Amino acid sequence: MKKKWWQEVVVYQIYPRSFKDSNGDGIGDIRGMIDELDYLEKLGIGAIWLSPVYQSPNDDNGYDISDYEAIMDEFGTMEDMDEFLAEANKRNIKVVMDLVVNHTSDEHQWFIEAKKGKDNPYRDYYVWADPAEDGGVPNDLRSTFSGTAWEFDELSGQYYLHLFSKKQPDLNWENEEMRQAVYDMMNFWIEKGIGGFRLDVIDLVGKIPLEGITGNGPKLHEYLQEMNQATFGNHDLLTVGETWGATPDIAKLYSNPARKELSMVFQFEHIGLDQQPGKEKWDLQPVDIAQLKTILTKWQIELGNEGWNSLFWNNHDLPRMISRWGNDQEYRVESAKMLAILLHMMKGTPYIYQGEEIGMTNTPISDISEAEDIETINMYNERLDQGYSKTEIIDSINAKGRDNARRPIAWNSKENGGFTTGTPWIALNENYQEINVAAALDDPDSIFYTYQKLVQLRKDNPIMVWGDFELVDTVDCVFSYYREYNGERWLIVTNFSNEEQAFSSEDKIEKVIIQNNKKEVTSLQNMILSPWQAFVVKVK
Ligand code: GLC
Ligand code: CA
Repeated sequence: MKKKWWQEVVVYQIYPRSFKDSNGDGIGDIRGMIDELDYLEKLGIGAIWLSPVYQSPNDDNGYDISDYEAIMDEFGTMEDMDEFLAEANKRNIKVVMDLVVNHTSDEHQWFIEAKKGKDNPYRDYYVWADPAEDGGVPNDLRSTFSGTAWEFDELSGQYYLHLFSKKQPDLNWENEEMRQAVYDMMNFWIEKGIGGFRLDVIDLVGKIPLEGITGNGPKLHEYLQEMNQATFGNHDLLTVGETWGATPDIAKLYSNPARKELSMVFQFEHIGLDQQPGKEKWDLQPVDIAQLKTILTKWQIELGNEGWNSLFWNNHDLPRMISRWGNDQEYRVESAKMLAILLHMMKGTPYIYQGEEIGMTNTPISDISEAEDIETINMYNERLDQGYSKTEIIDSINAKGRDNARRPIAWNSKENGGFTTGTPWIALNENYQEINVAAALDDPDSIFYTYQKLVQLRKDNPIMVWGDFELVDTVDCVFSYYREYNGERWLIVTNFSNEEQAFSSEDKIEKVIIQNNKKEVTSLQNMILSPWQAFVVKVK
C-alpha cells in the first residue's frame, strides 16, 4: 500500500455549534474556530473533520442541508470559511468537510421543486411511493429518529422517504442527474482546497426502500466508484465513510485502494456492545471487555493491506467514552488517558472529538425539557406512548443521548466557560469550572498533554502508523497488545477496569514510551496494575 498523508495524521472533529462563539449569540461559529486554530496546532493534529457548516434550518443541527454551497448564517459567511481554510492550511491542518448526501433538507431548492408535482424535473431526485392498498404508508420502514420513514404529501397523494427526520427527505441515488449535481457540488469544495470528505451515512445511498433494503444496497459501491472518478479520485484527499453496518469484509470493499472508493470507514461494531442484541441503542447492557478486545482485534488484523482503520471512541452522535466505559468520577483523568493510549497505539488513523482531549464528561438531564436533540426528543415521546416510565427513558438518554457530546467546550472557568458572552444554545456541563481548556493547559499532568504527546509520538515513530498488531493473552479486563515494525517491538498494557489487575510478561523493558501515572514501570514480571493504569514500553 502506497503511504498516504491521512495514515500518518491525527484528525480532530469540530462540532461548530458547540466549539466557540465569537459574537455573543450563544452559537459557535467559524470566527470562533479561526480563533482556536492555534490551540489545535498546539495539540498537533493534521486534519479537522468539520461537522456541517452549510446553510440549514437546523432540524438536525446542520445535517439537514438546504444549500451545499452556502454557509449557515449563524456560523458566518463564505468569506469566513475561506479564511478558515487558508488559516488551517497555513498551519498544515487539512479540513475534511462533512458530506451529507443521503438526504437534503426539505427546504433545499431541489425538494421545493420536487414537491411541486409528479412532472417536475426534480421530482425524481427524491424517493416517492404510492400509498399501500389500504391508503397507508408504503411499507413499515422506520426512521432512525422514531416512527415511520414515510411522510405523506397532500398535493400528489404520494409518500416521500425520510430515513431520518421528515425534514430530511432521502435523495434518490438511482437518478443520474442528481448524482452529477452532487459531484459538481463536491468539486466546488475540492477547488477551494479542502482536505477531504467525511461521508455521512454513506452506506444508505444504495437503498431499495420498497424492497426494505436500506444499508449496503446492491449499487452502493458502483456509486462510490463513480463518485471517486468524478471528484476526489485525482486528488490526494482523505475520505472516510460513516458505515454503521460494516464488517471487515465490507470495509475492504470501501477502503481497498485497488477498488478506488474511499480512504477508510468508521465502523461501529464495538460501539454496539453496550446495547441489548437486536434492540435499540437505548436498551442498555454493560459492556463486556473481553468482547471489546475480540472485536477490535478482528478489525486490527483483518483489514490487512486491503484497507485502513479509523480509530475513535467519540463523535457528535455518541456519549462521552469516559462516562460510558471509563470512569468519569474518581478515575476520570486515569481512565481518559488510558483510553487515549489504548486507541492511539492501535493501527489506523485516530480521531479525537472536541473536548475529549480535556476529558469532558456526559451531562445528565433530569427532564426532557433540557434536551435539544431531535433523536432524543422523538424517542422520548415514542417510548412514553409505548408505556415506558419517564425515569427509564431519562436513564437511557443520560447514557446514550447525543446531547452528551454536544455541550459547549469550556475554554476557561469564567461565566459559560468562555464559550460565549451570551446565552449558550445548550447549557454547559456544570463541571466546566474544573474541566476546561485553560485548566488543562495549566496542568502539566493533564489529559491534554497525554493527547499532545501521543500525537507527537505518532510523528516520531513509524511503528505507531505502520507496525503490525498482535493481541496479548491476558485476563479479561487487561487489554494488551504488541506493535512491531522493522524489528522494533512495543508492548501496550492497559487496565480497562476500576480494580487492580494482574499482568505479567517475560519481555525486558528497553524504554518507557508513555504512561498514565507517575510510578515508573521498571519490570513487567508479576505486575499488579492499578485501576485504569496504562503504559507503553519498547521491549527486547
Ligand atoms: C449521521 C450523523 C448524524 C445525523 C445523521 C443524519 O449519523 O452523524 O449526526 O443525525 O447522520 O444525517
Ligand atoms: Ca456565534
